[in-house]
Amino acid sequence: MRDFLTRLPKAELHLHIEGSLEPELMFVLAERNGVALPYGSVEEARAAYDFQDLQSFLDLYYRGMSVLRTAEDFHDLAMDYFRRAHAEGVVHVEMHFDPQAHRVRGIELPVVMEGLSLARRHAERELGLSSALIMAFLRDREAAEAMAVLEEAAPYWEMLDAVGLDSAERGHPPSKFTEVFMRAAQLGIPRVAHAGEEGPPAYIREALDRLDVCRIDHGVRCLEDPALVARLRDEGMVLTVCPLSNVRLKVVERIEDHPLPQLLEAGLRVTLNSDDPAYFGGGVLDNYLACQRAFGWDEATFIQLAGTAIEAAFIGDARRTELRHRLAASY
Ligand code: HPA
Ligand code: ZN
Repeated sequence: MRDFLTRLPKAELHLHIEGSLEPELMFVLAERNGVALPYGSVEEARAAYDFQDLQSFLDLYYRGMSVLRTAEDFHDLAMDYFRRAHAEGVVHVEMHFDPQAHRVRGIELPVVMEGLSLARRHAERELGLSSALIMAFLRDREAAEAMAVLEEAAPYWEMLDAVGLDSAERGHPPSKFTEVFMRAAQLGIPRVAHAGEEGPPAYIREALDRLDVCRIDHGVRCLEDPALVARLRDEGMVLTVCPLSNVRLKVVERIEDHPLPQLLEAGLRVTLNSDDPAYFGGGVLDNYLACQRAFGWDEATFIQLAGTAIEAAFIGDARRTELRHRLAASY
């Protein structure tokens, strides 16, 4: 099964590139940039990754990214992840990035864009790995700041495959960002949003109704609202689910308790993703393997999941056709 799951051409639709920063690279970049870390060693860093909830993770996540200062750092971060993902049979990566988390540290958008763009070109050329870029807004900061970032990104609008919404969900409903997302819509930029991870099903409804999103990131709490489940199914809405993340952030207690089987049973379009692989115990393949162990799914189920990701990816017709063929040839 491991061979089969490795071979399967997997598209990853939900990854925070800053959350792919492994402690090893964190130490290299800290040294390079003269940044002090709160950890004495790689082992100490990993041992500190013991979270009670989303906020306790976010505190370490924002601290960890303080080592990212130059375009070269962002390039190395993304390339390091692309190489690991490629080795696991990932063929396409859609990465969220958090410009506001860098801007507050004095790292401006052009630095981030230059580094990530260079890495994307390298990955395409060296690994045949395609990618997409999702500029995420931090929902626990003011909507006006998000709007300013969107306007400031004007030179890069063409390069954005979507805008997203992440960070601390509770108390920060999607409706707070209606204007920002309507501006993105006016610019022709697709929209996705985290909703229903820690927040209630009402936030998933708001993301659909107010932000006009084409995918929901997480969305697992939809099951508390049967009418919403029916709506998600009828609209063919895709959920980018991150099972290992949900375990580590205590959205569910154990992987065996994860609602993925119910989501599939309800006829929802589900994909498997890593979220923040350096912090949550593994990449895309590890998430596939964890589900295999927990739920005993057969090959057909994984083919369906991988197929949904290919159909829902921000890619052109030629690449989608190619990935469909690669999927069909992989089993
Ligand atoms: N949830 C919300 N915001 C985030 C996450 C997450 O798992 N990772 C990075 N930002
Ligand atoms: Zn996420």
